[in-house]
Amino acid sequence: MDFMGRDVVSIKDFSVEEIEHILNIAKKMAPLAGGKKKGNILEGKVLASLFYEPSTRTRLSFESAMLRLGGSTIGFAEPGGTSFVKGETIADTIRMAESYADVIVLRHPNEGAAKLASQFSSKPVINAGDGAGQHPTQTLLDLYTIKSEKKKIENLNIMMIGDMKYGRTVHSLSYALAIFGANLTFIAPSLIQMPQEIINNLKAMGNEPQLSTSLSENIQDADVLYVTRIQKERFPDEEEYLKVAGLYRINNALLRNAKKDLIIMHPLPRVDEIDPEVDDTPHAIYFKQAFNGVLIRMALLGLLLIKDFDGGGI
Ligand code: CP
Repeated sequence: MDFMGRDVVSIKDFSVEEIEHILNIAKKMAPLAGGKKKGNILEGKVLASLFYEPSTRTRLSFESAMLRLGGSTIGFAEPGGTSFVKGETIADTIRMAESYADVIVLRHPNEGAAKLASQFSSKPVINAGDGAGQHPTQTLLDLYTIKSEKKKIENLNIMMIGDMKYGRTVHSLSYALAIFGANLTFIAPSLIQMPQEIINNLKAMGNEPQLSTSLSENIQDADVLYVTRIQKERFPDEEEYLKVAGLYRINNALLRNAKKDLIIMHPLPRVDEIDPEVDDTPHAIYFKQAFNGVLIRMALLGLLLIKDFDGGGI
């Protein structure tokens, strides 16, 4: 399996075997990600993190991953301080970044931005979220989390709730879960239900996702509940957003009928969709999930930047 120099634009860029390989290497990264050991395999390598949209987890975990492996980082957390404000195109910015760095991590509000960027860079471009499009490294860390908590993915009942329309994490994840043979249920009002094109793709893969508007009617069957924020910033107008804002709130009363070993995930940030009282239950694993992002991003950086990296020698 050769990962060196590849772009990561969509989770579809990887085969099942490649995804499993990344997850296996991520597991080996635990001592470094936790700060117990210091790595140096990426010494001399530079990561450029170009964030045209806000981020806490993706940007900081990529930077942490690079630093934990001995590399360095450059970049920006918002484009206001860059030549973007003078009208520089993304193509030109990418051309600059590829001459300053060995790998580029890009978050951008436009769907397709990472694909476009990859066409202007000879260095690997990693999609850190492109509008309502894809978020492949989030998907990898979500898969890692499910596998490490549940020991399998096949035949699990995985319910996603919230913004299926604009939430890019559920777009990437539903595809990946379908190839791993999970049973999918999407819970959302019709206004923000999963786009038909994605449902058709899942069906073409042999998956039969269920659609519902009610969590209380389904919660007892869930092995994994994947909660998402309503993506206020992606609605064309505020009136549409207000029709669905605050419709779902996971709390302990709702979880009374849940399986004891239900896990609740969330890509974060959350707003009001999970009551903080849930944080203290054994169901809540969303902060652990966010930490797993460091493991996955370390594995991915090693694979893209070092030939035949297998997680050893760290
Ligand atoms: N999950 C995620 O993408 O979080 P950030 O927006 O904070 O990076």
